[in-house]
Amino acid sequence: MRTPIIAGNWKMYKSVKESINFANQLNEKLKSVKDREIVIAPTFLATALVVDALRFSNIQVATQDAHWENEGAFTGNISPLSLKELGVKFVILGHSEKRQYDNETDERVNRKLKNVLKDGLKAIVCVGETLQEREAGKTEKVVETQVSGCFEGIGLGDLSNIVIAYEPVWAIGTGKNATPEQANEVHAFIRSLIAKKYNAEAAGNIRIQYGGSVKPENIKQLMAQPDIDGALVGGASLKVESFEALVKF
Ligand code: PGA
Repeated sequence: MRTPIIAGNWKMYKSVKESINFANQLNEKLKSVKDREIVIAPTFLATALVVDALRFSNIQVATQDAHWENEGAFTGNISPLSLKELGVKFVILGHSEKRQYDNETDERVNRKLKNVLKDGLKAIVCVGETLQEREAGKTEKVVETQVSGCFEGIGLGDLSNIVIAYEPVWAIGTGKNATPEQANEVHAFIRSLIAKKYNAEAAGNIRIQYGGSVKPENIKQLMAQPDIDGALVGGASLKVESFEALVKF
């Protein structure tokens, strides 16, 4: 049994005050939810205050990145150890916007993943192909390279602390979501990669979220697919009613 996991990625939206306010409203709306995991990823600056606002809540806080070292001469970076100290539970790694704008690579995601896990945090590892890659029939090849690079040297015992997010780049923020069948096909493929690298049990246990224009109107059909275990949501996670509807799909 894989518990559904619904995560909101706020990207660079909401001021610190708006974030706290929003977290308080979500807390009120979602406190009765028991059968699914809820995660929100505010901006870094809002993180500490949002964690405080949600201290006794069923909503866990994630960040949208973290560094591969816990300290050092890395100007402008964020130590996962400090995140752990604050009470952050998850770190999103390898998001396509980090790959696109900040030169994130599978190798760096892999180093970050190892460090984040070592510090006792959980990770959401994002993979997904561009439109060009999909149209060239390279989706599986791209996803396989990403999974293999990101999971290099990650032990079986760490898998329970990792969630994979399949986010086709062409569906992010575009309003064009993958059809439930299209998404499920790639999810099943990712699960087969985990079975090959680890074993069938690990593949059966790992949760794979879909991301890319998930909305209250399409989440039910996506979640009805056998290999879709949750959603990583950008735009539709920024309004209380909408995120509430997503969580309570
Ligand atoms: P979207 O973003 O829901 O706005 O498409 C998803 C994501 O980037 O995680």
